[in-house]
Amino acid sequence: MRTSQGQAIHLKDYQAPEYRVVTVDLDIHLHKTQTYVKSKMLLVRAKGVDPTIPVKLNGDELKLLSVSVDGKELDERDYQLTPTMLTLGKVPKKKKFEVEIETEINPDTNTKLMGLYRSSGNYCTQCEAEGFRRITFFPDRPDILAVYTTRIEADKKDVPILLGNGNPVKKGAVGKGRHYAIWHDPHPKPSYLFALVGGNLDSIHKNFRTASGRKVKLGIYVEKGKQNSADYAMDSLVRSMRWDEEVFGLEYDLDVFNIVAVSDFNMGAMENKGLNIFNDKYVLANHDTATDTDYANIEAIIAHEYFHNWTGNRITCRDWFQLCLKEGLTVFRDQEFSSDQRSRGVKRIEDVRRLKSSQFPEDAGPLAHPVRPESYVEINNFYTATVYEKGAEIVRMIATVLGEQKFRKGMDLYFKRHDGEAATIEQFIDCFEKAGKVDLTQFALWYSQAGTPLLNVVAKYENSAKRLEIEFEQFQRPTSGQRRKAPMLIPQAIALFGKDGSEIPVTSTKTAGIENGILHLTKRSQKLIFNDVPERPIISLNRGFTAPIEVNYRQSSNELAFLALNETDGFSRWQAFQTYASRTIIRGAKAAKSGEPVNAEDLFLEVGKKIAEADELEPAFRATMLTVPGEGDLAQMIGKNVDPEAIHKSWMKHCAQLGKAIKDIQGPILKGLTIEDKFKPDALSAGKRSLRSTILKLGVIARAPEALSEIETMYFDANNMTDKFNALATIVHYHPSRDLREKVLEDFYQKYHLNHIVLDKWFAVQATKPGKSAVATVKRLTRRKDFSFSNPNRLRSLIGVFATSNPTGFNADNGRGYKLVADVIRRLDNSNPQVAARMLTAFRSFNSLEPGRRTLAQDYLKELQRQDKLSNDVSDILDRMLNR
Ligand code: ARG
Ligand code: ZN
Repeated sequence: MRTSQGQAIHLKDYQAPEYRVVTVDLDIHLHKTQTYVKSKMLLVRAKGVDPTIPVKLNGDELKLLSVSVDGKELDERDYQLTPTMLTLGKVPKKKKFEVEIETEINPDTNTKLMGLYRSSGNYCTQCEAEGFRRITFFPDRPDILAVYTTRIEADKKDVPILLGNGNPVKKGAVGKGRHYAIWHDPHPKPSYLFALVGGNLDSIHKNFRTASGRKVKLGIYVEKGKQNSADYAMDSLVRSMRWDEEVFGLEYDLDVFNIVAVSDFNMGAMENKGLNIFNDKYVLANHDTATDTDYANIEAIIAHEYFHNWTGNRITCRDWFQLCLKEGLTVFRDQEFSSDQRSRGVKRIEDVRRLKSSQFPEDAGPLAHPVRPESYVEINNFYTATVYEKGAEIVRMIATVLGEQKFRKGMDLYFKRHDGEAATIEQFIDCFEKAGKVDLTQFALWYSQAGTPLLNVVAKYENSAKRLEIEFEQFQRPTSGQRRKAPMLIPQAIALFGKDGSEIPVTSTKTAGIENGILHLTKRSQKLIFNDVPERPIISLNRGFTAPIEVNYRQSSNELAFLALNETDGFSRWQAFQTYASRTIIRGAKAAKSGEPVNAEDLFLEVGKKIAEADELEPAFRATMLTVPGEGDLAQMIGKNVDPEAIHKSWMKHCAQLGKAIKDIQGPILKGLTIEDKFKPDALSAGKRSLRSTILKLGVIARAPEALSEIETMYFDANNMTDKFNALATIVHYHPSRDLREKVLEDFYQKYHLNHIVLDKWFAVQATKPGKSAVATVKRLTRRKDFSFSNPNRLRSLIGVFATSNPTGFNADNGRGYKLVADVIRRLDNSNPQVAARMLTAFRSFNSLEPGRRTLAQDYLKELQRQDKLSNDVSDILDRMLNR
């Protein structure tokens, strides 16, 4: 049964455009409710296209004022207008002609935050993926690349700043208190990269000189009075620009680069050519308001959007099926950048953790889709962890398989061949085949086959022959629309360790399938034989997470403990301890279903303690090691009949036992972490703060008296937001004193409620308090004056995090959590369907719940599905979750 009105669009139906737009001249008069837009386009008919073929222009919520072709205004009989399309039936027979269209739009009633809208009184735009059609009628598809000139006119007093794509050309007064600015972008671009901003903004500026000597003026624009919080973003931008020159040889290509921070934004940020627009939480930071995580996110997202200038803008996507061409590649690039700025090992762990907690569940549920989807009903629903994060892992695998130098050669070739084009995944892969002289046909299945591959591994060691045999069997799970799949190329870095901790070299083994130390698994099942292995080794698989797969290899607690302490690859150390932790917590959860969770294994606690006190390791690394898998991750590993309450009980018990185990060394560890009085957001200082909070959190869960008082001190004495917020969260979530919990919440509110970014944290911390009571708390908070249905960040910080990060609250056994979220989605769908649909994906794993909760969740989803007038966005997600 299909209930959604939306028609599916298929990759296989792609057709090149019949008409291209070569230049666009826009004249936009900003007005709160009646913005006037004049667009003059030069159209060119493609070779061989019959002139009787009409010109089709997309439109959405536009008021058409006039259409002219080659200067002659058309009669209503000469065109056809529907709510989504303007069709010009008769156009000149000659190859090139001009179309001029006048429209009127209303920025104030634009609650979808797509197209031109107002945020805190300032005008801004968001056009990816299909927002330009909400500004003017246009062939709104990424393979039409045009040169844009934009004239913006507005009231000078209310809107003193006027920004556009490209370089500033001219500005001046026009009388009646109005003024204008003209911007010209010489680089042909798709419509989704169009942007403009008009507002009363403050700014900071910096000069940058590119490697070849081009002078670039950098600017960051923020709401009035916030310019003191933009320095870290500026610093990140400069470091990103330098890094792209040094690592990829890519320079910036305009005279100005501007960033504008706005407080109402559907996503994180947008890479519009020369004029990036950001969700302000990814720009504004100072030590009193931003946590270390905020700093790291700002650095990564500034870099991400900047890197799009080449991977996304100079080379864009032929169609939206190729979204991962720009997103996966750009995520890979920003991950590499952050790795170079911070600790590579810790960054890798963070990235894998994110992939596992956001992408693995997507791949395992009804919303699973290939990194390059083959069809979509609503493209906004495909800005997913699969396209972004798994997409980045695929690029990383290409780099692993080719090696650093050939990978770089492949990237160079990609820029050489496709600069100025709208490209495809096939073209991208071909560059690496040529540069690496390899055949990537089988590898390319990573783009088309959905689901996380499972690798079953069995190892046999023959003592007498000193022979080790490892058998690998890969399994591609069926996903919606894809039942049978072919085996894939799975790159594997593996290591063998002797009991004394020394590594037994595997690269020298003459075994088929090992290239540059990387094992290439290509068959459904294959064996690897090692001779002359002196003792039964401890095997480490998927080192560094060489492939985004799930490995199923039975290892004893002793072996996991060994790897957690002795692996030389940081990621694999972490993974071993995570596997160990998951195993013991899941065992505990199973017991908790019928009573009390069982105790943690002694060896597990012993390893935890050793890591906690291992001074020679980076503090950030110790902190990630000691962060046991989240309750959501455990649910995903359990996979079916999930009981979130039982997981929570076991999780708490294990954390408490770990906290007890390190209780005696807590004092010395904390003392050893001397942190400078003056706050510094660098990785080393952040790591110390993180270890400190992690240790204290475990102590508080264990109810160790020292930790209970230390966390209070940490909250009240903190000279930075990281410590303050971590202490707040630990107290609110786990401290036994109700008085203290209420006191810190009140204190935090009083201090920070005027800063909307920090106020979001105050909402979020309450929404994520474990347990059923969170449902009532969240409901109460939605009735506050400072809660808002129109601000996406506020919605996400209360409803979004409740649904995604509070497993025992959202999954309350009476179904109230589901109802609360479903009610919000229903209401939100009328104003901002894109954000509503995103929030709805929190239900994506409902099928893996135990029967009681599964039925409740399903009932609320079905009830939602029965509503009429659902958006395309929400009905697409509902259909996929319920009908497959
Ligand atoms: N291209 C942006 C980025 O990843 C994301 C924009 C997504 N916007 C949307 N409406 N789907 O940097
Ligand atoms: Zn991106």
